[in-house]
Amino acid sequence: MKTVRVAIAGATGAVGVEMLKTLEKRDFPVASLKLLASARSVGKTFSFRGATVAVEEMTHDSFKDVDLALFSAGSDISREYRPYVVDSGALMVDNSSAFRMEDAVPLVVPEVNPEDIDLHHGVIANPNCTTAIMLTAVAPLHRAAGLKRIVASTYQAASGAGAKGMAELSAQISALAAGQTPEVRFFAYQLANNIIPHIDSFADNGYTKEELKMLNESRKMLHLPGLRVSCTCVRIPVPRAHSESLNLEFEREITPDEVRDILRAAPGVDLVDDPAAKLYPMPKDASERYNVLAGRIRQDISRDDRRGIDMFVSGDQLLKGAALNAVQIAEVALQRGRL
Ligand code: A2P
Repeated sequence: MKTVRVAIAGATGAVGVEMLKTLEKRDFPVASLKLLASARSVGKTFSFRGATVAVEEMTHDSFKDVDLALFSAGSDISREYRPYVVDSGALMVDNSSAFRMEDAVPLVVPEVNPEDIDLHHGVIANPNCTTAIMLTAVAPLHRAAGLKRIVASTYQAASGAGAKGMAELSAQISALAAGQTPEVRFFAYQLANNIIPHIDSFADNGYTKEELKMLNESRKMLHLPGLRVSCTCVRIPVPRAHSESLNLEFEREITPDEVRDILRAAPGVDLVDDPAAKLYPMPKDASERYNVLAGRIRQDISRDDRRGIDMFVSGDQLLKGAALNAVQIAEVALQRGRL
């Protein structure tokens, strides 16, 4: 079997650390491994398959002996490094939003559109975390009944703002417990004991960029340019799993029982839907889990027909929303001879 020379760019970040763990857990065929971060992190080490790997400062030359570069160091860094990675012949799987909407860059969730991987020219984009979690559960329903419209409200974890966001929430919770005033640095407001209906910057139409990513990235991955999506994205004081309330409209009628049957068989999804037993998706249960949890499945009673479904999903933002999806893209690229 082919083995792969791998680099993780942003290896010390919340997603980078999970990429490393995911490569090990899924037994990805790593021939050599580079852990890259800023000069601040030189001296840090991580363990991989029993060996100690030192973090190196990322430079333009870091990718010369690399086949796969998993990037999670922010959009500016991805933009700066793209030509060096691509010119070196490596495949860049990028977790940032920098290239997602470029026509020549496939945007992929392997359970949704694996065949798009074949079209890459050196870069494959990992979608926004809320979109990846949503589409893992929604794409199989779309294949059955034809998706027309989504109205979503999200409940997004602190990890979406990286390791700094998780540390800030944890420090705020401790400060409140100690009767102190919590420090606010990265979020717009105090997140502990609060929710913030503002993720990313505001566009002219009043939506945030995070909300517009749900629209644009869903259209691109489902190959549905006419799909209608309206979304409200909200940050909540949970460490690392996102949840989403989804109202779905389909072209054809579909019942909750059909939805449950489809999701029971869907890869990447665990059906958790037994309200009488108090079983439904919760971020606590989705955390550190590969699969997206789906439940609270109901026929939308605001309609006269059976083309509406309501459901609730929870998924680990750092895994299916980022690191796991990136590693899965690399696995499928390898299987399809595109890595
Ligand atoms: P570092 O820890 O050295 O700052 P997060 O989103 O969790 O904050 O993680 C961001 C990741 O991106 C970290 O690994 C961080 O490394 C890395 N990073 C930030 N700036 C740079 C840079 N200029 N060059 C390389 N890596 C960077």
